Amino acid sequence: MASLPLLLFLLLTIIIAVTQSNGSHVSVTTFGAIGDGHHYDTTSIQHAIDACASSGGGRVRFPAGGKYLTATIFLRSGVVLEIEKGAQILGGPRQEDYPKESARWYVVLAEKVKGAGITGGGEINGQGWKFIVRPDPRKNIMVSWNSTGDCLGDECRPRLVGFIDSTDVRVWNVTLNQPAYWCLHLVRCSNSVVEDVRIYGDFNTPNNDGIDIEDSNHTMITRCHIDTGDDAICPKSSTGPVYNLTATDSWIRTKSCAIKFGSASFFDFSKHYYNNITIFESHRGLGMQIRDGGNVSDVTFSNMKISTRYYDPLWWGRAEPIYITSCARDSSSKAGFISNINFVNISSVSENGVFLSGSKHALLSNLNFINIELVYKRWSNYSGGLYDYRPGCQGLVKHNTAGMMMEYISGLQIKNVSMRWFGSGFKGWNDPLEFKASSVDKISFHDWSSDVL
Ligand SMILES: *[C@@H]1O[C@H](CO)[C@@H](O)[C@H](O)[C@H]1NC(C)=O
Ligand SMILES: *[C@@H]1O[C@H](CO)[C@@H](O)[C@H](O)[C@H]1NC(C)=O
Ligand SMILES: *[C@@H]1O[C@H](CO)[C@@H](O)[C@H](O)[C@H]1NC(C)=O
Ligand SMILES: *[C@@H]1O[C@H](CO)[C@@H](O)[C@H](O)[C@H]1NC(C)=O
Ligand SMILES: *[C@@H]1O[C@H](CO)[C@@H](O)[C@H](O)[C@H]1NC(C)=O
Ligand SMILES: *[C@@H]1O[C@H](CO)[C@@H](O)[C@H](O)[C@H]1NC(C)=O
Ligand SMILES: *[C@@H]1O[C@H](CO)[C@@H](O)[C@H](O)[C@H]1NC(C)=O
Ligand SMILES: *[C@@H]1O[C@H](CO)[C@@H](O)[C@H](O)[C@H]1NC(C)=O
Ligand SMILES: *[C@@H]1O[C@H](CO)[C@@H](O)[C@H](O)[C@H]1NC(C)=O
Repeated sequence: MASLPLLLFLLLTIIIAVTQSNGSHVSVTTFGAIGDGHHYDTTSIQHAIDACASSGGGRVRFPAGGKYLTATIFLRSGVVLEIEKGAQILGGPRQEDYPKESARWYVVLAEKVKGAGITGGGEINGQGWKFIVRPDPRKNIMVSWNSTGDCLGDECRPRLVGFIDSTDVRVWNVTLNQPAYWCLHLVRCSNSVVEDVRIYGDFNTPNNDGIDIEDSNHTMITRCHIDTGDDAICPKSSTGPVYNLTATDSWIRTKSCAIKFGSASFFDFSKHYYNNITIFESHRGLGMQIRDGGNVSDVTFSNMKISTRYYDPLWWGRAEPIYITSCARDSSSKAGFISNINFVNISSVSENGVFLSGSKHALLSNLNFINIELVYKRWSNYSGGLYDYRPGCQGLVKHNTAGMMMEYISGLQIKNVSMRWFGSGFKGWNDPLEFKASSVDKISFHDWSSDVL
């Protein structure tokens, strides 16, 4: 049993640690964190965060050199985690390390906070490899904590960082590494800035998305580097709309879709702006998978360099540089309207064509393609010849490759668009435009070309 003087001494140290620091700048080691990567530092870290919060907010420092293993830690208003370069927060691999409800499974979780953030140049690591049951170069088989019945199928693993119902979120200059599931998740947030963040996920692990922006408004993402298995920047709408999202000056590689709207799409997406993003060897470039009746409007994609290639068809995506689709997921869903979408100054090298598909009761309208260079080339060994309507809808449909496939569209402007085809002898290669006349109108072509090189 600890003696009273010792307890008083510890208390005093904590009070001094908190009050001496400027705007409250505390170190987790002052609160007893060991940082050896083996002991759980959860309690010390949480005490440091809570002490910092109750003194009005400030920074909680994770000194360089430490590996701070932890169960879920809860961020508080006004508290910024400063993970120094060379320091790591390690997420625990046990189910008991996380709260009861799967919706709260995060290594770092902020709920209903204002002005909290993460920075410092260091790293949060989800130890994702500990969740791989069987590695498979096609797609890893993952651990599933689904015994509780609280979550479904194989999507039952902890996410890395979550901000829920929060405002003035700031995540900058930090590495988010090896999440077991989604990496950075913003839920019903407003005014978020994600800047200079590096995200690395295992390329063969399903569902390790980069940044999921769910039911959140006013989000700015810039100078991020995202190299991961699943969707990299992924706005979703489950309980509310996603308004005013900007993502710029970033680099992405993914075995799924680089910028992906949906597929959860129950509410609207509007006023999004994506600019100056390089998409490298991804399974899909710019994508909209609208399946649940939410509408998309006023979105601009500009100044992008894209390369897309085939990977295993176990993953959604068929090497499309641009993929805009709206269809009812199943008989209980509705298709959403997609309108006023601009693609400007985009060049791509890809193994498949652009895919634009609305549905009978929700035409795509006012799509503009301006200054676009589409290069078609084959360099992987996977075969083509499929249209991909997943999830739901018509699933995978056998079809030849088209430079641009169009159905159920009213209003499409093609202006200064070139298509160039490399190689011949591939089955169904070099079919520049494919459209169903009965379902397409108000299309204009100005300065469009297709050449075989
Ligand atoms: C990120 O943090 C490191 C370590 O503190 C610092 O050296 C570097 O300048 C920061 N970079 C940016 C872009 O803020
Ligand atoms: C739990 O996940 C395993 C592994 O993915 C799967 O085989 C099983 O059907 C899932 N059970 C439930 C109830 O979701
Ligand atoms: C986003 O803005 C819309 C429209 O103003 C509002 O209905 C919604 O509640 C906002 N979402 C959040 C999380 O603030
Ligand atoms: C859009 O969001 C940014 C923050 O990311 C904010 O600064 C800006 O004021 C918002 N614009 C509008 C029109 O609300
Ligand atoms: C585009 O983004 C890259 C980072 O990916 C940056 O280095 C470059 O300066 C940006 N270009 C412009 C014109 O802002
Ligand atoms: C999408 O737009 C249609 C047509 O304007 C409208 O009926 C529907 O309610 C909208 N969906 C949502 C989720 O607001
Ligand atoms: C597209 O590129 C042209 C020529 O480089 C430039 O003038 C224009 O501002 C760019 N448009 C956008 C939306 O960035
Ligand atoms: C047409 O687009 C190309 C890029 O694909 C660009 O270099 C060129 O300036 C554009 N031409 C006009 C007239 O805008
Ligand atoms: C394609 O297959 C050939 C022969 O099996 C192999 O040498 C080559 O590395 C493969 N290329 C790719 C990109 O997988």
